[in-house]
Amino acid sequence: MTNEEPNSLYYGDYLELDKILNSQHPKSGFATDEMLFIVIHQAYELWFKQIIHELDRVREIFSTDNVQDNAGEMSIAVHKLKRVVKILEVLNQQVNILETMTPMDFLEFRNLLLPSSGFQSLQFRIIEAKLGLKMEHRYKADYYKNTRRGGFSSEDFSTINQVEKDATLKELIVKWAERTPFFDESLWKEYQNLFPVEQGTQKFWSDYKQIYQSSLSNAEHGRLDELERVFYKEGSGDFSVHAMRAVLFIMMYRNLPIFHLPFDLLTTLIDIDELLSQWRYKHMLMTRRMIGMRVGTGGTSGAGYLEGALRQHYIFKELTEITTFLIERSKLPNLPKAVIERMTFNI
Ligand code: HEM
Repeated sequence: MTNEEPNSLYYGDYLELDKILNSQHPKSGFATDEMLFIVIHQAYELWFKQIIHELDRVREIFSTDNVQDNAGEMSIAVHKLKRVVKILEVLNQQVNILETMTPMDFLEFRNLLLPSSGFQSLQFRIIEAKLGLKMEHRYKADYYKNTRRGGFSSEDFSTINQVEKDATLKELIVKWAERTPFFDESLWKEYQNLFPVEQGTQKFWSDYKQIYQSSLSNAEHGRLDELERVFYKEGSGDFSVHAMRAVLFIMMYRNLPIFHLPFDLLTTLIDIDELLSQWRYKHMLMTRRMIGMRVGTGGTSGAGYLEGALRQHYIFKELTEITTFLIERSKLPNLPKAVIERMTFNI
C-alpha cells in the first residue's frame, strides 16, 4: 500500500499539522524570541484542551446519583484526574523553557502584544470554572469579567457565563460525599462507645470529639469551636456538615479497602489544587522577572494581581482543612460490624 492509495491515512493529515504548524506568526518577525513565546502558549492551550476533556468525563461520572465507589466508574474518574495531575506537572515545567528568554528579549516584542494577555485565556477560565472556582471567591473580581479593552470578546464572555452555570466538579463531589450512607443511625446500634455520650450527639461523633479534644495542646483549645462549626453546625465553605463528616471519615478510615478509591480521589483533588497553585506561583515569579512591577498587557496591576490570585484561588481548600481535625490512627474507634458491612456507596 502506498500513501497515494485512497483512504490510506497519512501522519500529517491525521494530525492536521498543516494547520498547527502554520499557526505561528510573530508580530515582530523571526529575529526575536517571539516564536518561542507563541509556541509555549499554544502548547499550554493544547494541554488545557485535554484537561477540559478529562474534567468533562469526570463530571459526567459524578453527575449520576449512584457512583460505584469500588467499581469501574469511580476508578475511571480517579484515573482521569491523575492524568490531569501529570499534565499539570508538565505545564509547570514549561515555565522553565520560557524563562530562557531574558527580560530584554521580551521587551523587543512586548508592546506589540497589547492589550492581549494570558488573562484572556478562555480555556484557563473554563478549567477554573469547571473545577469550581466561583466569581465571588476571585481576587479582584472586577478585573476579571468584562469586555472592555484587555477583557474578553463578547463571544468568550458568554461562553464563560454559560460554563459557570453548569455543575462544577466541586459541587458534584460535595453531593457525592453527602450521599454516603455510613451515618444512618440504624448501623450504629452495636457501636461500643469509648466515652460517655455527649447529649444530643451521635455516639461515634461524640467519641471522636472527645478523642480530638484530648489531643489538643493548651494553645490549641480554640480548635474545638472550629470543630463544632465544621462538623456539627455549618460545615465549611461549600461543604455541608454531612459532606465534611464523610470526607473526614474517609480520611480517617482510609485503610479499609472500600475507602481506597475515595481516598485516592480526595488526595488527587488536593494534588490538582496544589499543582495549579504551583503554576500560579511560577508564573508570578516569571512575570516579576520579565516585567518587574510594570502593569500587565491585560491591564491588571501585573505581579501584584497574580500574587493575590495565588493566595486566594484555591478550589478544594475544605479538603486540606480536614487535616486539622485528624486524630492518631491508634486512637480510632472500632467500627461496628453493620457499618463495615454496609460501607458501600451503591445504594
Ligand atoms: C513572558 C511571559 C509572561 C508574562 C510576563 C506574563 C504576564 C502576565 C500578567 C502580568 C498577567 C496578569 C494579567 C495582565 O494584566 O496581563 C498574566 C495572566 C495570565 N497569564 Fe501570563 N505571562 C507570561 C506567560 C504566560 C504563559 C506562557 C501562559 C500560558 C498559558 C500564561 C497564562 C496566563 C494566564 C492563564 C493568566 C491569568 C491568570 C489568572 O488570572 O489567575 N502566561 N500573565
